[in-house]
Amino acid sequence: MSTPPPTAIPPTMKAWLVTANGPPSSKTLTLHSARPTPSSPSASNLLIRISHAALNPVDLHLINVLPTWLPFRRNATPAMDFSGTIVATGPGVVGFKVGDKVCGALGVPQIAFGTGTLAEYISVPEGQVTTVPEGMSLAQAAGMMGIAGQTATLMVRAAGGLKTGQKVLINGASGGVGSILVQAAKGKGAMVVAVCSGANEGFVRGLGADEHVDYRGLEAAEGGLEGYLAERYGKEEGEKLDYIFDCAGGQALYDKCPGYLKEGGRFISIVGGRTQGIVPFVRNKMRPVFLGGTPRPYDLLGLAPSGKTAGEVKGWVEAGVVKETPVDSEYKMEDALEGFEKLASKHAKGKIIIKIAE
Ligand SMILES: NC(=O)c1ccc[n+]([C@@H]2O[C@H](COP(=O)([O-])OP(=O)(O)OC[C@H]3O[C@@H](n4cnc5c(N)ncnc54)[C@H](OP(=O)(O)O)[C@@H]3O)[C@@H](O)[C@H]2O)c1
Repeated sequence: MSTPPPTAIPPTMKAWLVTANGPPSSKTLTLHSARPTPSSPSASNLLIRISHAALNPVDLHLINVLPTWLPFRRNATPAMDFSGTIVATGPGVVGFKVGDKVCGALGVPQIAFGTGTLAEYISVPEGQVTTVPEGMSLAQAAGMMGIAGQTATLMVRAAGGLKTGQKVLINGASGGVGSILVQAAKGKGAMVVAVCSGANEGFVRGLGADEHVDYRGLEAAEGGLEGYLAERYGKEEGEKLDYIFDCAGGQALYDKCPGYLKEGGRFISIVGGRTQGIVPFVRNKMRPVFLGGTPRPYDLLGLAPSGKTAGEVKGWVEAGVVKETPVDSEYKMEDALEGFEKLASKHAKGKIIIKIAE
């Protein structure tokens, strides 16, 4: 196998910077053309030339809340998901080499201290990445092995891995996490009930959902979504759901879940975590049943992204458990703001990808 030619690393690079707190706009986010490229990687770090980034709702939250006046946030770059090619390795790197195509996601501490993936280069520890699965494009890899795919593995893990024949409901099934989770649950043999708007029914069925529930169409109905679910799945204990995966933040969905979630079933949420306050956690996790608590276990998961978890998602791809990263839209680096605006709508259908380079 021939060694790839050494890549010239320019001293400066293009990068988006968070210039003020607030919703995405030209005031809060600006593209700079001459930021210093990270220096040669030390220890077990990799210098990666980014090809694609993908956006997540947490990016918006962090742009909004992490003060830009903090000294270490004066030139902070947003976004966590990435894919790209290794262009230099630190002396302690053991698992990767220059030329490897890798992907993964940064963690909140890295973002807080200013590193982000809407830049042409990043330096990350090798424990943060996995190699891109054979045959998968870098655009697909940024969306799949990033926050969304890693969170989906966390949720499936919390459900004991899922077994054939189990009945699961995924709320927010058409979003970045949901659209990967639908594939994973189906790939593990579960019967999947997908909750999203009617406009996305064909999309989630195409990903493998067996049944679709239109939460919007039920908003005006008596009993709403929860009343429908109790009617559809709650008449007999054996008909009820084994797991509810909440990717949209449904408090009523939890409060009323004994009507459609089996005794012994679990309600697994990712909404309301460390970045979104502790109220749901305290109310749902700690309130005893005799004080009005819901008699079903409530799990609130928080992802700490890692190369190991990205590797689990890669394992799913290689085993055919998940097939593709559903892509809502792809934007050029210059147009990343439009991607953030789409993300802020809370109605993206799959992942929003930003193309940084070829
Ligand atoms: N705890 C963690 O570690 C963790 C990790 C990742 C994500 N999260 C959180 O999980 C949530 C989902 O993330 P994501 O990346 O999937 O977001 P996303 O891509 O922005 O989700 C958009 C999707 O949500 C659906 N949706 C919006 N409101 C809904 C509702 N009321 N009921 C059902 N579906 C609804 C939309 O479907 P329609 O267009 O059909 O309405 C859309 O397809 C976010 O709050 C995110 O912050 C947490």
